[in-house]
Amino acid sequence: MKNTSGYYTRTAQILHWLMAIIFITAWLIGFYSGNFLSYDTDGSFKGTVITLHKNIATTIIFLVIIRIFWRYTHPSPELPKSMSPFMKKMAHFGHLALYLILLALPITGCLFSWSAGHPAPVLYLFDIPQLVQEDSDLLAIVKPLHIYISWIASLLLTGHILAALKHHFIDKDNVLNSMTKQK
Ligand code: HEM
Repeated sequence: MKNTSGYYTRTAQILHWLMAIIFITAWLIGFYSGNFLSYDTDGSFKGTVITLHKNIATTIIFLVIIRIFWRYTHPSPELPKSMSPFMKKMAHFGHLALYLILLALPITGCLFSWSAGHPAPVLYLFDIPQLVQEDSDLLAIVKPLHIYISWIASLLLTGHILAALKHHFIDKDNVLNSMTKQK
């Protein structure tokens, strides 16, 4: 199955931009709480901010499952012929890494929360069923894991955005348009 239209489907585009907004918002709130707030000086405000972070970020789990299903049933448009085979490989590897991050961050985030004895709430509506009990040994692993993966995510995302801008403004090809427009 090939996509010769040169454009992503409207559904793929909506999922992409919706997840971009949610992901960046969740990242900024998590970073703010993790690096600028402390329970000693900010008290319950830090708890409120972390709760907001969780309620937004857990939605990524549901969206990424839909997105992966959609990606496999609706192929992405081909990359420009002007790109070298090496750059095409890099693009595919980068996209795969982004999908892995989209899975790894919410999963480690939930494990972080559960192992610390807290819930993983979704949009202030319901909690994801708790899959592990409070566990300080697990917490000691998943807490740094979540934080390191969030840093890797920021690097990958920056690279992804810079690559999209280079395609649009320097190479002047259709790559960014393929995610914003329809034929
Ligand atoms: C796409 C999803 C997510 C992203 C992008 C993300 C990003 C981040 C970032 C950037 C931090 C701060 C790291 C640092 O200290 O430098 C963080 C911390 C944290 N995240 Fe996430 N996260 C996500 C999902 C989740 C989920 C689903 C949960 C729990 C249900 C969660 C729970 C936490 C907690 C408890 C902290 C610690 C905050 C603090 O110490 O103040 N995260 N996250």
